[in-house]
Amino acid sequence: VRLVILDDYTAVSDAAAAIALEQLRRRPETVFGMPTGGTPVGLYQRLAASGADFSRAATVNLDEYLGIGPDHRESFYQFMLRHLWQHINLAPERRYIPDGLAPDPQVESARYERTIEAAGGIDLLYLGLGTNGHIAFNEPGTPWEWRTHVGNLTEETIRANAAGFGSPDRVPRQAITIGIANILEARQIVLLVSGKGKAQILREVCHGPLTPALPATALRSHPNVTVLADRAAAALLESAAG
Ligand code: PGA
Repeated sequence: VRLVILDDYTAVSDAAAAIALEQLRRRPETVFGMPTGGTPVGLYQRLAASGADFSRAATVNLDEYLGIGPDHRESFYQFMLRHLWQHINLAPERRYIPDGLAPDPQVESARYERTIEAAGGIDLLYLGLGTNGHIAFNEPGTPWEWRTHVGNLTEETIRANAAGFGSPDRVPRQAITIGIANILEARQIVLLVSGKGKAQILREVCHGPLTPALPATALRSHPNVTVLADRAAAALLESAAG
């Protein structure tokens, strides 16, 4: 894992965007793995403002809530539309995301697996980090060999995501998520971590034992992972101690 410690969130977003734009320049048909959440918003703002040509690229979203559709304001579909898709020239048929209203979520998970495979796999996968160590909706305890599946959200994740829904009661309890096995198949991974609220979990992810209890520790077995962390998030890392 390559750890890059940057001053602040702005610098993390700048660095994340620079990696994406360089990748797109080298390979216009790049398949990007894309997260939602607060952390990637700065990255998406920069990609939206870049004027870069996404006409041959594709985006694969990591997950989507089960039980709400693409018209729901808090769906990840709408998040992507607002923050990225409506601002770039990415073809709608290459904006891949699970269907949260699929009648059979197992069938939809299998369909999404085939979609990722048909796209040629993920070239450059961005991830955020949950305060409980989750990546995508792989919550603590998820076996690392699992592929796209229905995941149950933990109470901590439900609370963390409640703001837009108005109350934790309205947050969906499940999501379709790519699995750790899918994440580890990406050719390159960039983990974005910002703010002091992530300092303790980032320390555990970097220095603790490799364990499914902390899903993000799986990233340490991948050959091409870059962690972009701001000083606040990196404050408890051993390498940042001096
Ligand atoms: P955040 O979410 O970017 O809003 O902190 C991270 C995550 O839960 O994956």
